[in-house]
Amino acid sequence: MNKRTISCETTDSFACDDYNEEEPKMCKLDQAKTYKGLVGIYVDESTITYIDGLKGELYYRGYPLHDLVNNSSFEEVAYLLIYGRLPTKSEFSSFQDELIKERNIPDNVLTILKSFPRNTTRIELLRTSVSALSLYDPDDYDFSEEANIRKGIRIIAKIPTVLAFSHRIQGNLPLIEPSDDLSHACNYYFMMTGEVPNNEFTRYFDKILICHMDHSINSSTFSCRVTVSTLSDMYSGITSAIGTLRGPLHGGANERVMNSILGEIKKKDNAIPWAKSKLENKEKIMGFGHRVYKTWDPRAKILREISRELWSNPEIVEKIPDLQHEEHKEDIDNIFEITEILTDFMIKTKNIYPNVDFYSAGALHALGIPTSLFTPLFAASRSAGWVAHAIEQLSDNKLIRPRLRYIGELDKKYVNVDER
Ligand code: COA
Repeated sequence: MNKRTISCETTDSFACDDYNEEEPKMCKLDQAKTYKGLVGIYVDESTITYIDGLKGELYYRGYPLHDLVNNSSFEEVAYLLIYGRLPTKSEFSSFQDELIKERNIPDNVLTILKSFPRNTTRIELLRTSVSALSLYDPDDYDFSEEANIRKGIRIIAKIPTVLAFSHRIQGNLPLIEPSDDLSHACNYYFMMTGEVPNNEFTRYFDKILICHMDHSINSSTFSCRVTVSTLSDMYSGITSAIGTLRGPLHGGANERVMNSILGEIKKKDNAIPWAKSKLENKEKIMGFGHRVYKTWDPRAKILREISRELWSNPEIVEKIPDLQHEEHKEDIDNIFEITEILTDFMIKTKNIYPNVDFYSAGALHALGIPTSLFTPLFAASRSAGWVAHAIEQLSDNKLIRPRLRYIGELDKKYVNVDER
């Protein structure tokens, strides 16, 4: 076998800072360490979100997450993420109006939604629909920052409508048109479930959305930034991000948490044996672990309290407005208590903490959100962060194009197909 060491010849066409002039003519970058999974690598600088993974702290534009959760709304945090500062009263009011005005989706996109096969995951429907929405955006091929912000606002406003419509189409339920009078969280809940939530439910729902709105350069945001860094467009960035978020190692974990609880664990006494058998089989337990946090994920802490409040209120637990819950409620113990047992077990035995997806699952279930809409809901919230990151990336763009160390053979001899 004619095999040679991988090297980069320093010919004139390769003469640049990356390449060594000296023998053995290895590319300087090829001699560098490989960072599998880009663990610990900073790809750029940002002023959007700060995470302290050791202390378990999270800030959006310098504001601690818990302050925003307690005092703000989805719309205000979206403004903060996109424009970098909190809005004045009048800025806030016109931003709210813009979001409301953009809630409807084009008839042609609705027609496409109706044509999709049944039993498709809602997140796949969303990914495909956001891609389709790009073809109807009035700003079209205007790639200025102002147009990008307008496109971003349209995407953020339309995602809940796409999700609610696709969910109801798939379930043969009548469509509920967006309302002009309700807040983003309230309208989103209303279109999905058909019920206008009371103030308590709206507030819980809004808090859950805020917890998911940004998280620095997580995998989906990275995808979004990579896509726009090629000077592609905002819709392509968000479509890439949705496709990335879908995976169970990222935003797809929340649905798996709930499916495990409803379909496998069911009773408190089963929680530890279930977790032990997963670990013995070297399987991951969804909703635990994080690339950046080595302690409590601050979002999980907030969502844990929301879940605790919801599941300790008998009036709420008795009347969870969801068909899936109706089906399971006789066989299932209190979901918050099951999650607490798993948390205690994972921290004590593995020193691995719950992440955002673990407690959001129980909280959303208590609010009557169908499990199939958990990952899409993550996307609906995170859309604000993706838009902010796309705009930041383009404000000082550098094509994101890392290297991949080739470790295969070279100079192999081509063999004609008849001789193989
Ligand atoms: N269940 C069981 N073990 C876990 C675990 C989990 N949820 N998360 C991490 N671990 C273990 C790994 O098995 C590994 O152990 P080892 O060193 O003995 O092989 C170690 O902890 C490090 O995990 P690793 O997967 O290499 O870390 P990562 O930084 O690459 O991955 C996640 C981070 C989030 C992908 C990972 O924790 C995971 O898969 N979690 C479950 C999916 C999930 O909840 N995703 C949502 C994230 S917000």
